[in-house]
Amino acid sequence: MPIRREHFQFSLVLAGGMTICWLVFSYCASVSLTQVNRQVVLNHRLQRKQAKLMEPVRTDVLTVTPWLAPIVWEGTFDPQVIDEAFMSQNLTIATTVFAVGRYTRFLRDFLESAEKHFMVGLDVHYYVFTDLPGDVPNNVTLGVGRLLSIVRVPKFDRWQEISLRRMELIQTAIKDHIHRGANYIFCLDVDMRFHGRVGPEALGRLVAAIHPWFYMYPRSQFPYERRTVSTAYIPMDQGDFYYQANIFGGALEDVHRLTKTCREHLEVDKSVGVEAVWQEESHLNWYLLRNKPTKLLSPEYVWDDAKGQDAKEIKLVRFSSVIKNKAEVRENL
Ligand code: GAL
Ligand code: MN
Repeated sequence: MPIRREHFQFSLVLAGGMTICWLVFSYCASVSLTQVNRQVVLNHRLQRKQAKLMEPVRTDVLTVTPWLAPIVWEGTFDPQVIDEAFMSQNLTIATTVFAVGRYTRFLRDFLESAEKHFMVGLDVHYYVFTDLPGDVPNNVTLGVGRLLSIVRVPKFDRWQEISLRRMELIQTAIKDHIHRGANYIFCLDVDMRFHGRVGPEALGRLVAAIHPWFYMYPRSQFPYERRTVSTAYIPMDQGDFYYQANIFGGALEDVHRLTKTCREHLEVDKSVGVEAVWQEESHLNWYLLRNKPTKLLSPEYVWDDAKGQDAKEIKLVRFSSVIKNKAEVRENL
């Protein structure tokens, strides 16, 4: 009976298709579930300082957002508890840093200070994006489980161009190789230095840091892109925080989505001859307004040496922009 046979063949194809879909789905689900957000398991014998519900640890600053994402400040977490929770998970943190043209001069301090303070005890794979591989210092001693790869990029003439292309290059690198070898990714500026711990307390699905110059201001004064012609446009009455693009990160999947969207928006803007006021930082802020970060880093994690250290809410500067002679390091001002 030809009709029956067709039915049978159809059912067979359908069943086969469903099995393949199920296999692909369960593989993807297991990958993302094992990669991040594991349950916190702690050794119950270790005595830690008791957390008291009626004794908030910080009363001077906001420690949780209206969408219930923690804001990480000194005093809000116990480094030992965090280390214990994360160390046994065998995590690898991919870390991208762009050192193009004369910015290679910042690499040594960046790397040496990162080896002292950044994700100590975890595996870190630095990806140094540069047009001058010969200028990458080759005698910085990296700890066990830490390695460095160089990704060659073209020379850009304007510093804004580096900033504009960064999202695209990170997205491509995640897709082409980083996704195979890491659980989380952090994207950092190179003209920075670590001074204090930046550890696994900073890990989350989507992580961004609050800019040190604007956290006292109302949203209408944030330096968002305000021209409606740009895809990064944010109206005066919107916005949570102003994030600085010097450090952002998260799970590979989430950061891939972020960089892909920002890249597409940067390209749309470019096609109509528009460059957002703070390049990729403007697009990052637009993205994070709609896709709320799951963890926020206080300005301790993205300080600026030019701001000094007398802010009483900053108990510890962990990572900060170094003061640079812009005329000396940039091809254009
Ligand atoms: C500056 C910083 C820039 C950009 C700008 C936003 O302090 O150097 O990278 O974030 O703030 O207004
Ligand atoms: Mn910078």
